[in-house]
Amino acid sequence: MTLTDKTRNGIGMPLVGFGTYQLSHDQAEACVSEALKAGFRQIDSAESYGNEEGSGRGIKASGISREEIFITTKLFPGYKPWGAPEKTRAQIIETLKNQLKQLSLDYVDLYLIHAPLAEIRLEQWSALMELKKSGFTRYIGVSNYDEARITEILDANLEKPQVNQIEFHPIYARHELTGFMRKHSIEPVAYSSLAPLSSWRSEEGQGGEVLAGIKEECQAIVRKIAEKLHVSDARVLLRWGLQHGYCVLTKTGKPERIRENLKLFDFEIPQADMEALDKMNQNKAIAWAASGINPMDSAPTLGF
Ligand SMILES: NC(=O)c1ccc[n+]([C@@H]2O[C@H](COP(=O)([O-])OP(=O)(O)OC[C@H]3O[C@@H](n4cnc5c(N)ncnc54)[C@H](OP(=O)(O)O)[C@@H]3O)[C@@H](O)[C@H]2O)c1
Repeated sequence: MTLTDKTRNGIGMPLVGFGTYQLSHDQAEACVSEALKAGFRQIDSAESYGNEEGSGRGIKASGISREEIFITTKLFPGYKPWGAPEKTRAQIIETLKNQLKQLSLDYVDLYLIHAPLAEIRLEQWSALMELKKSGFTRYIGVSNYDEARITEILDANLEKPQVNQIEFHPIYARHELTGFMRKHSIEPVAYSSLAPLSSWRSEEGQGGEVLAGIKEECQAIVRKIAEKLHVSDARVLLRWGLQHGYCVLTKTGKPERIRENLKLFDFEIPQADMEALDKMNQNKAIAWAASGINPMDSAPTLGF
């Protein structure tokens, strides 16, 4: 299939989304508005990013109509080791209603459980099913779920997640998980595609320095391919995710990068270069490393 900026995944998500992690309210307002004006039609937010009010203002300021935008947000499920109680069904219903207020929206397009960090995750999943039925979200899904956590839901005969949003880049490429999701028609969405770059979360306090040493070999390969194709390193990494069949999310606080990161449909990575990038896999999660966990491996056993 030829990928174009009009192509969408199986539930109608535009293939490239604008992420909002580590943006303040004011930055989120300015960047979300700019991203929508530049042509992004998918915005990715989360309860734990603490900036939904800013993103909501940005959506309004863009002047783009609500129906044209695919908006995702996430539930922080609670995590006992961090002293955060696990959210019950009733609390989850209230949480999304509150998020909608912050975002100034009547509904979101996709609501995700941010990570399988709770013991009561089947109860939490049932709450998402209820939210979908009530029209507060059009689709529901999960994030950072591996085969075992998805299988728990399938085995319980509950509604299947429509999306799994995971860390996916050449250094951390879970191809078996991708195959499993495809088999179950669960749409893959990639976050932190740019984690292999030295410019990823490079500002003070953003945490990009963690595991910096493992990225050098990959950076050299990306550079070489980027030079050959006359595109930036960031575009190579984002395009790599698209060619693996993922929707890709990307975040920047810089207007010139907003436009650059959307330019993914006017070139193609040749098969041999895709394979060179695939060989960089170290099965090493980077995105949450500064928080001290890999969310995919941190799931407690089920409390049922
Ligand atoms: N579900 C989860 O657990 C989870 C985890 C992580 C992320 N996410 C979502 O996925 C989104 C994307 O992940 P991410 O935030 O890690 O974003 P990313 O796009 O992979 O990386 C963003 C970092 O790369 C830099 N950058 C952006 N464009 C660049 C370019 N063209 N050239 C060089 N450097 C560039 C940014 O710096 P500047 O801002 O200074 O440009 C920032 O430090 C998040 O914002 C969030 O919405 C979800």
